[in-house]
Amino acid sequence: MRIVLVTGKGGVGKTTVAAATALAAADAGYPTLVTSTDPAHSLADALAVGLGAEPTPVVDRLHAQQIDAQRQLDRHWGSIRRQLMEVLDWGGAAGIEAEEFLIFPGMDELFALLEVNRHARSGDYEVVVVDCAPTAETLRLLSLPEVLSWYFEKVMPTERRLMRAARPLLSRITDLPLPQDEVFGAAQSVFESVEAVKELLSRPEVTSARLVINPEKMVIDEARRTYSYLGLFGYGVDGVVVNRVLPDLVADPYFERWRTIQKGHLDTIDDAFAEVPRLRLRLFDDEMVGLERLRLMAHELYGGIDPIFDFEAKSPFRIVEDGSTVTMELDVPFVERVDLEVFRHGHELYVQLGPYRRSFILPDVLHRREVTRARLEGGTLLVTFSEMPE
Ligand SMILES: Nc1ncnc2c1ncn2[C@@H]1O[C@H](COP(=O)(O)OP(=O)(O)O)[C@@H](O)[C@H]1O
Ligand SMILES: [Mg+2]
Repeated sequence: MRIVLVTGKGGVGKTTVAAATALAAADAGYPTLVTSTDPAHSLADALAVGLGAEPTPVVDRLHAQQIDAQRQLDRHWGSIRRQLMEVLDWGGAAGIEAEEFLIFPGMDELFALLEVNRHARSGDYEVVVVDCAPTAETLRLLSLPEVLSWYFEKVMPTERRLMRAARPLLSRITDLPLPQDEVFGAAQSVFESVEAVKELLSRPEVTSARLVINPEKMVIDEARRTYSYLGLFGYGVDGVVVNRVLPDLVADPYFERWRTIQKGHLDTIDDAFAEVPRLRLRLFDDEMVGLERLRLMAHELYGGIDPIFDFEAKSPFRIVEDGSTVTMELDVPFVERVDLEVFRHGHELYVQLGPYRRSFILPDVLHRREVTRARLEGGTLLVTFSEMPE
């Protein structure tokens, strides 16, 4: 079972590459699902088929799905919604749909993740290809399990306890509908699903990211940052698809300058992403829509190799024991020391990289140890823990 997250900047060709990759996987014999977390419903356009909210058969062994946040909301948040409705009615806001409130930022992504989890664990598919929304949203999506687990573990239990204790008193002084235990129950079950997604996504032998880029400066710069952030959250990159490369065939002098520019960028890409396989894909002379063209694209992209299982991601995270010290290693390529901050709070270690922060719950063996050093070496953050003095 493999999950491939196809990600990259807006417009680089993610949806097309995701669709072509999924088609190639199905043609290679794997029961495959391609699903899109991008609210812009372009997966259906790329495949040139109508798609529903549930996996729809496209060709033999290939299903495609367009995740519908509204439907997922009903599936997961029934009782939370009822509660919110009561509160809105009480507040005189009857007529406003609770749904309008509940589709807050991050909600679509959360449901998308829960869907990926459900299908990946259903046993129906050997391969799940996820056509991700543009980079920033994707990173938010991929950091959600971490953030939500933190919230559920730290904040929820306290709120629930407080609410139990305070309900009798509160109901005497206000008729505001108070959250019932079933609301927490629903949240709890979402939490369990989030934990399950996290477990699945944090295994590099199951989940990897495939970065789509174009030979353009801004795209490459963003891809570098994405690569580092993916590392922070524990995702490995299994390949870089360099899309829209001008083919040698184009002899028109008008494009000569473009070719020189691309040549420079292609060298930069080979250099920067030397550790992962880079697959070049030409700029086709046509829009790559429909099964026939996607198959042509898949053929040029993967040729004779397996589009899924010939690609491996290595985990960006390791714990290395060496005598009396333990070192936590995290690959964050392209990062400068100034962008990185590490601090410890109790049994947690926080790593902040640009706008993103991840908390690592320290394993028991590290609780009684002290962080003695944090340094950046060749794109890897090394945090050393030493024995506490007696
Ligand atoms: N290599 C290519 N050659 C020609 N057209 C391409 C190529 N890659 C993508 N396209 C076209 O570019 C447009 C945008 O691609 P899309 O996959 O939707 O990008 P994204 O999902 O990254 O926003 C689509 O019309 C697609 O058919
Ligand atoms: Mg897209």
